[in-house]
Amino acid sequence: MSALIETKNLHFQYLHHQSQNEWILNGIDLTIRNGEFIAILGSNGCGKSTLAKHFNALLTPSDGTVLVNGRDTNDEKNQFEIRKTIGMVFQNPDNQLISTIVEEDVAFAPENLGIAPSEIRSRVNWALDAVDMLDYKRHTPFKLSGGQKQRVAIAGILAMRPQCIVLDEPTSMLDPKGRSDVMKTICRLNRELGITIVLITHHMEEAARAKRVILMDQGQIASDDTPENTFEQIELLKKLKLDVPQITELTHRMRQHGILIPKRMVQIDQCVDALAAALEERYGHY
Ligand SMILES: Nc1ncnc2c1ncn2[C@@H]1O[C@H](COP(=O)(O)OP(=O)(O)O)[C@@H](O)[C@H]1O
Ligand SMILES: [Mg+2]
Repeated sequence: MSALIETKNLHFQYLHHQSQNEWILNGIDLTIRNGEFIAILGSNGCGKSTLAKHFNALLTPSDGTVLVNGRDTNDEKNQFEIRKTIGMVFQNPDNQLISTIVEEDVAFAPENLGIAPSEIRSRVNWALDAVDMLDYKRHTPFKLSGGQKQRVAIAGILAMRPQCIVLDEPTSMLDPKGRSDVMKTICRLNRELGITIVLITHHMEEAARAKRVILMDQGQIASDDTPENTFEQIELLKKLKLDVPQITELTHRMRQHGILIPKRMVQIDQCVDALAAALEERYGHY
C-alpha cells in the first residue's frame, strides 16, 4: 500500500495560543496508507482536530512537513488538489448543509470544482446511494434526523471523489440510531469503495471497528496499534482518561470469575462466539 498522508516531525502552534511555549502538535510522525481505516482517540484538547486539519491543508505545519500523495501541504500550488483528495466531515451536520434540497447540497462541492452538469448528476446519485439516502434526494435537509443529515454531509464530500475522508467526531451529536447508521456507512465506504478513513471519536466501540487505532496525548502519539492490542493497554487508557471498551471490561471480569475466555476481543460477535464456546466447554450443550 502506498503512503497517502505522511507527517514528518510535525510541530504546530496556534499563533494566538495562550501558552506560547507549548507545542499543540509536538513531533508527529505518521504514515497513513491508501485503503486504511484508522481511528484517532485522545482526551479533549490533546490535538486531534488540529492534526486532522493538517491532513487536508486547512492548517500547515509550524515545523516539519505533511505530504499528501507526496505533495507538500505547505506549497499553496498543491492545496487545491489536496483538498479534493482528503475530504473532511465535522461534528455538527447543521453547519455542513447549505442548500434547501438534499441533491443540491451534494452537488455543491463538485459544482465548485467546475465539473460538467451530467457528470455531477451521476456523482450525486452515486454518492447518495453510497450513504443510503437516495430516496431523500428531493427532500429538504432541515427536516431530516441528525444521522440522515450527517450522511448527506458525507455524500457531499464523496461527490468530490476523495481518496480519503477524515471524520472529526461525526457521531457525537447523534442519537444511537443515527450513530449506528453513520458508522455502518463509514465502514461500508472503506470496505466496498476502498476509501481511506480517518475517524476521530470518543466512542471506544467505534474505534474498535477500525483496523488501526492511534492514541494521542498532549500533541504526541502515545500508541499506534491494532484495536486488539490498543485496548489491552488498560493502564495507558486510564492514564489518558479514556474509557476501556465495554467488551474489554466484560471479558476481563469474566476471566476474573474463572470463565475461560480469550483476551484481545473488541467486537461483540467475537465475544458472543467465545462465550458460547466457554459455556459449552463448561456445561456441554446448554
Ligand atoms: N483556533 C485556535 N486558536 C488557538 N488555540 C486553539 C485553537 N483551536 C484549538 N486550540 C487549542 O489547541 C489545543 C488542541 O485543540 P484540538 O486540536 O481542538 O484538540 P482535540 O480535538 O483533541 O480536542 C487545545 O489546547 C485548544 O485549546
Ligand atoms: Mg476536536
